[in-house]
Amino acid sequence: MKLYLLCSFALVALSASSFDVHTQHFINDGQDSSLVPLLDLHRELVERNSVTGSEHNISRYLDAHLRAIGFHTELQPVIDGRENVFAYLGHKRETRVLVTSHIDTVPPYIPYERRGDTIWGRGSADAKASVAAQITAVKRLYDERQIDEGDVALLFVVGEEKDGHGMKTANDLGLSWESVIFGEPTELKLATGHKGGLAFTISAAGIAGHSGYPEVGRNAIDILVQGLSALSQLQLPGSDRFGNTTLNVGLIEGGKAANVIAQNASAVVMVRIASDDLDGIKTLIQHAVTTASPWLEIDFLSPGIPPVPIDSDIEGFETVIVNYGTDIPSLKGSHKRYLYGPGSILVAHSAHEHVDVADLSTAVDGYERLITQVLERPRPILWKP
Ligand SMILES: *[C@@H]1O[C@H](CO)[C@@H](O)[C@H](O)[C@H]1NC(C)=O
Ligand SMILES: *[C@@H]1O[C@H](CO)[C@@H](O)[C@H](O)[C@H]1NC(C)=O
Ligand SMILES: *[C@@H]1O[C@H](CO)[C@@H](O)[C@H](O)[C@H]1NC(C)=O
Ligand SMILES: [Zn+2]
Repeated sequence: MKLYLLCSFALVALSASSFDVHTQHFINDGQDSSLVPLLDLHRELVERNSVTGSEHNISRYLDAHLRAIGFHTELQPVIDGRENVFAYLGHKRETRVLVTSHIDTVPPYIPYERRGDTIWGRGSADAKASVAAQITAVKRLYDERQIDEGDVALLFVVGEEKDGHGMKTANDLGLSWESVIFGEPTELKLATGHKGGLAFTISAAGIAGHSGYPEVGRNAIDILVQGLSALSQLQLPGSDRFGNTTLNVGLIEGGKAANVIAQNASAVVMVRIASDDLDGIKTLIQHAVTTASPWLEIDFLSPGIPPVPIDSDIEGFETVIVNYGTDIPSLKGSHKRYLYGPGSILVAHSAHEHVDVADLSTAVDGYERLITQVLERPRPILWKP
């Protein structure tokens, strides 16, 4: 405890001297100075480029930061020198609750910029706002003695935006929890579920030739357009709980030049699945495309994920169904799972990603309320031989 107090004192001194300009700025704004550590941490995170695959710097930064404010940390190697950051208080690695989010972002990197009460930059919402608020909440609860060692651990993973490699590797930590609180932009609402996903390529096989003599070839672009048209008219099943299953053609390529009959054309499609009948949806897609043209082929990029129900048995939050994927299905175990965070998914991944300072601050309260409510529950009886 003594060491811990010394450490946080040293950190306060360090941040006051290094970030004078910002501190001054916040205070001159008439802003609550208790927000300074939260905003400084959020800025440090957003200033580090951590596009999926290059999380090294941010993992190292978080590891050092968490140690400096009194956590015990472990860097868990994932792949290619990329590391998850796991942290807990005191000596108990095994905790009742895990609070987690991801530290990678989609490309391209966009620098940190604060304009008034809004903070812009890549990851400012998705998900560095969650990371900063989660750390601040857990530290505050510990400082106020509302939680003790053995109650809460933190986990920040790489690779969520691509393949969930970080969270899948976290299964090797050899730990289990009663409840896991995931951080993603939910506009400060408690998500009651998220849609599943299915990605596929659709490719057309053409025959090249001179554009003046269409009868000698077979235009792959024409064929692809027929396939995409069939897909856009397709009615895919949804559900009352998760809403409509929707489909996005996100990438298209093909052809060589205006005067050449296109030999190749393909598109990549993402389906947001709102029905449990994943196989039925695959069959409908396959059928629609092969009916449109015998020269079309579908290639599913992964088995796909059905919609994911999420727990929401917590008082005092608005609820929402979200339409994006998360790391939730990648973490195995029988834990309760919650999803909550500041910022809006509608701006995440866009060139104008941003988060409001007020939402960051509210999220700290939100995570505190989630953690304390979950910990107030009686401990489940563990049957251990
Ligand atoms: C990581 O940090 C080093 C040193 O600060 C810097 O030179 C490098 O460009 C950073 N890498 C990324 C991906 O931001
Ligand atoms: C182009 O299409 C032909 C068949 O029409 C196929 O053999 C070839 O692999 C395709 N090339 C590319 C780059 O997709
Ligand atoms: C679902 O699709 C139907 C029909 O296209 C549409 O009327 C409805 O608004 C959609 N529901 C949602 C929640 O988007
Ligand atoms: Zn995210």
